[in-house]
Amino acid sequence: MTIFCFSLLFFCSHALVSAGSSNASTEELALLAFKSMLSSPSKSLLTSWNTSSHYCSWTGVVCSRRQPERVVSLLMGSFNLSGRLSPFLGNLSFLRKLDLHGNQFVGQIPPGFGQLSRLQMLNLSTNTLHGSIPEAMGGCTNLTTLDLSNNLLQGEIPTGIGALKNLVNLSLHINGLSGDIPHSLTNLSSIKHLSLSNNRLSGEIPPDLGNLYQSSGS
Ligand SMILES: *[C@@H]1O[C@H](CO)[C@@H](O)[C@H](O)[C@H]1NC(C)=O
Ligand SMILES: *[C@@H]1O[C@H](CO)[C@@H](O)[C@H](O)[C@H]1NC(C)=O
Ligand SMILES: *[C@@H]1O[C@H](CO)[C@@H](O)[C@H](O)[C@H]1NC(C)=O
Ligand SMILES: *[C@@H]1O[C@H](CO)[C@@H](O)[C@H](O)[C@H]1NC(C)=O
Ligand SMILES: *[C@@H]1O[C@H](CO)[C@@H](O)[C@H](O)[C@H]1NC(C)=O
Ligand SMILES: *[C@@H]1O[C@H](CO)[C@@H](O)[C@H](O)[C@H]1NC(C)=O
Ligand SMILES: *[C@@H]1O[C@H](CO)[C@@H](O)[C@H](O)[C@H]1NC(C)=O
Ligand SMILES: *[C@@H]1O[C@H](CO)[C@@H](O)[C@H](O)[C@H]1NC(C)=O
Repeated sequence: MTIFCFSLLFFCSHALVSAGSSNASTEELALLAFKSMLSSPSKSLLTSWNTSSHYCSWTGVVCSRRQPERVVSLLMGSFNLSGRLSPFLGNLSFLRKLDLHGNQFVGQIPPGFGQLSRLQMLNLSTNTLHGSIPEAMGGCTNLTTLDLSNNLLQGEIPTGIGALKNLVNLSLHINGLSGDIPHSLTNLSSIKHLSLSNNRLSGEIPPDLGNLYQSSGS
C-alpha cells in the first residue's frame, strides 16, 4: 500500500512537472517551427520573426501580460501565408486565439492542436486544408468558436466535437465532409451558430438537434 501511494505521488508530481515544463524556449521553438513550414516567399513576410528580437514582439504574436513568456494569440488572418501547419503549434499551451484564416495553408490539421486546452477561438477558414478533422480536437475543451469553413476537409465530423461544451459558433460549411451528422452534436448546449452547408453529409438530422436553444442551422 505504501509503495502504491508512493508511486502514485511520484506519478502525480511528475505529471504536474511535465505539464508545466513548457518554457520560453518551447514557445520560441514552436513559433520557429511554424515559420520553417511556410514556403517562400511567404517566409519572407515574417522577417521580424528572427531571434534578434524577443518572440513576443514578432508580427502577429501576442503574449500574456501576467505570464510574459506565454503566447496567448497568434493572429495572422489574410497574411498570404502558404505551406503546412506545424504540429509544434500544439505546444503553445497558453494559446487562446489562433487565427490563420484566409491564407493558403495545405495539408492536414495536426492532431496535436487537440492539446490546446485553453484555446477559445480557432479560425482556419478559407485555406486549402485536406484530410479529416482530427478526433483529438475534442480535447480543446475551452473552444467557443471553431471555424474550419471553406477548406477541402473530408471524412466524417468527429464525434468528439460534441464534447466541446462551450462551443458557441461551429462553422464547417463548404468542405467535403461526408457521413452522418454525429448525434453528439446535440450535446452542444451553448451553440448559437451552426453551419454545415455545402458538404456531402448524409443520413438524418439528429432529432434532438432542434432542441438546441437558439441555434441557427444553415
Ligand atoms: C526548457 O525546457 C526544456 C525541456 O523541457 C529544458 O531542456 C530546458 O533547459 C528548459 N529551458 C529553460 C530556460 O528553462
Ligand atoms: C530581424 O528582425 C528585425 C526586426 O525585429 C529586422 O529589422 C531584421 O531585418 C531581421 N533580420 C533578418 C536577418 O531578417
Ligand atoms: C501572395 O503570395 C503569392 C505567392 O505565394 C504571390 O504570388 C502573391 O503576389 C501574393 N499576394 C499578395 C497580395 O501579396
Ligand atoms: C513540441 O511538439 C513537437 C511536435 O508535436 C514535438 O516533437 C516536440 O517534442 C514538442 N516539445 C517541445 C518541448 O518542443
Ligand atoms: C473566420 O474568418 C473568416 C474569413 O475567412 C470570417 O469570415 C469569419 O467570420 C471568421 N469566423 C469567425 C467565427 O469569426
Ligand atoms: C476554460 O474556461 C473557463 C471559463 O471560461 C476557465 O475557468 C477555465 O480555467 C478554462 N480552462 C482552461 C484549461 O483554460
Ligand atoms: C460565426 O461564424 C460565422 C462565419 O463562420 C460568422 O459570420 C459569425 O460572425 C460568427 N458569429 C459569432 C458570434 O462569432
Ligand atoms: C452527451 O453527453 C452525455 C454526458 O456527458 C453523455 O452521456 C451522452 O452519451 C452524450 N450524448 C451523445 C449523443 O453523445
